[in-house]
Amino acid sequence: MDMDGFPDSLINRLDRARRVVFATGAGISAESGVPTFRGEGGIWNKMRPEELASVDGFMRNPQLVWEWYQHRRDLMSRVEPNPGHFAIAAFEQHFPELTVITQNIDGLHRRAGSSRILELHGDISRNKCFDCGRLYDKEINPDEDLPRCGCGGMIRPDVVWFGEMLPHDVLQAAFEAAETAEIFFSVGTSAVVQPAASLPLVAARRGAFLVEVNLEPTPLTPVADVFLQGKSGDILPRLLKQFESRRKAAPGGEKTP
Ligand code: OAD
Repeated sequence: MDMDGFPDSLINRLDRARRVVFATGAGISAESGVPTFRGEGGIWNKMRPEELASVDGFMRNPQLVWEWYQHRRDLMSRVEPNPGHFAIAAFEQHFPELTVITQNIDGLHRRAGSSRILELHGDISRNKCFDCGRLYDKEINPDEDLPRCGCGGMIRPDVVWFGEMLPHDVLQAAFEAAETAEIFFSVGTSAVVQPAASLPLVAARRGAFLVEVNLEPTPLTPVADVFLQGKSGDILPRLLKQFESRRKAAPGGEKTP
């Protein structure tokens, strides 16, 4: 252990790593004010995912689903990235290849400055046609008649709902990043929703050092090489600081990736 409480094994691994993945879930945005889905105050404790986040739910009551997404879109447009997002963005300069794989749809990694981001579950700021997939960039007002695409299809948020396939290219890129990662961070996710939950297992099987950052243990914790318990907005900036000061102090100083 070093003075800041991070295991030497982690700092040493970081020092040698060239390919790093940060896989994030709702917990990384909790400190920005975006509610998580599970756990204390979780959205799915009071709302039903099959009503609000499924194709059947949308077909039954598109108005209700749109009201909910419009509410979340408003909320997400008002929040800012937090120190956890910024630390991940800053880690980028230390590794030749750093990939962010996120289940979040809030765009906060992009706004924090990360450049290689794989959004597994889409992006709430976009709309698309249900049938032909064409992007639709006008605002939706759930209180008015819902607009339709030129092809006749309904307009929906460009997010992934339960029971739907993830975007194929994004998912493939995420598995490739996991397979080649030397260090894989799982941050702020309950690690129960597939296929995202398989990524750290794939990485570990291929020899990656697995680090979990979470307020509480998850099904992934027994598999992780290091479990850092606490808030990502606290832990990740401290880890970055520790890592950077160690690099500066090393003979030859900062290495260029
Ligand atoms: P969850 O809400 O399931 O889990 C959030 C995790 O973040 C929990 O394990 C918390 O303990 C942890 N957490 C909360 N605050 C934290 C903090 N400040 N620092 C670190 N950890 C913290 O969110 P996801 O795992 O992202 O899918 O959920 C996965 C998917 O389920 C979502 O993408 C969404 C949802 O239904 C779809 O809508 C398709």
